Amino acid sequence: MEQKTISDYVEMNNWLQENACNTVLLVCDDSIRYMESFNHHLKKIENAGVKIVSFKEFQPNPQYESVVKGVGLFRRERCDSIVVVGGGSAMDVAKCIKAYANMNGNGDNGEYLKQEITPNDIPFLAMPTTAGTGSEATRYAVIYFDGKKQSITSNNLIPQTVLMNPDALKTLPMYQRKATMMDALCHAIESFWSVNSTDESKEYSREAIQNVLIHMDGYLQNTEEGNAGMLLAAHTAGKAINITQTTAGHAMCYKITSLFGCAHGHAASLCDRVLFPWMTEHTDRYIDARGRAYLSRTLDEIGQAMGCQNAKEGAEKLQSIFHSLGLEVPEATEEQYHVLRTSVNPVRLKNHPIALDDAAIDELYHAILR
Ligand SMILES: [Fe+2]
Repeated sequence: MEQKTISDYVEMNNWLQENACNTVLLVCDDSIRYMESFNHHLKKIENAGVKIVSFKEFQPNPQYESVVKGVGLFRRERCDSIVVVGGGSAMDVAKCIKAYANMNGNGDNGEYLKQEITPNDIPFLAMPTTAGTGSEATRYAVIYFDGKKQSITSNNLIPQTVLMNPDALKTLPMYQRKATMMDALCHAIESFWSVNSTDESKEYSREAIQNVLIHMDGYLQNTEEGNAGMLLAAHTAGKAINITQTTAGHAMCYKITSLFGCAHGHAASLCDRVLFPWMTEHTDRYIDARGRAYLSRTLDEIGQAMGCQNAKEGAEKLQSIFHSLGLEVPEATEEQYHVLRTSVNPVRLKNHPIALDDAAIDELYHAILR
């Protein structure tokens, strides 16, 4: 199924009508409070006879139990469709509610996690309120059960329609604005060098990198054009990782977030700004089946997508963008380096085009942090 993108609330009305939606489960985070025009529009929808059932009972890094609650509400209220408005966590929750809505049982003891996801045609619309995760374009969701991360992958998680509304980004706080932008840029770059890349994914990556750079200033100044451009860039980067998944930068960044409290995109860019130049100097350690020359050429192409001559200059540009944003470089103790070294799941490095052994990971972490 081809995902459709729409850009205004009139089209959202059409979507509700086309899909004969009578009762919508609205999964949303706190960002919705500030979205005056959207709330105004919701009132109009309700006045026209569509029931809106809001679900907000989830936190960042959402728990499986929150999803179970959402599924319960969906069933109790006899919802027939799902609209999600928010950032990555809201998307994760909404995607899982959709996937579990028709499963057997009430979800106790993780039973939804044990069942196979079978496709359903519940109308599902997503409106991202950050320009970063690209989650609205991907078949992945992450939730936590019993303290363990559960990665869920199914084409059935991909929203059928995406509403791209730059107004949704207007009230985004500056740190989150910067961090989510860097997340999008890291998705595009990591997808580009991933061993799973295809001609199609690289085209998305290229387009996303270019749009991040074109719209960076306007977006940081909160202009409508900048916000619209960054929203599209993040969405396109999401399409790229939907094909390839992410690589070492993401595998290495999760523990940085939990140890130092950096936002995800901040942590990912801490890693990629060091990985990129390191990779250009270690292409002899390639594991991409397409070979060393291919990898070198690909790294150069990333630099070129960034408006540079080659990989080396591209890596320098990534570093200078990171510093221009004033993003902090955390200071780590030896104990924390040990935790970090042992946190990287080797299985998750398999998408990375260069072999990273323990020594390399240790060296990289020492360059990533102070
Ligand atoms: Fe990310």
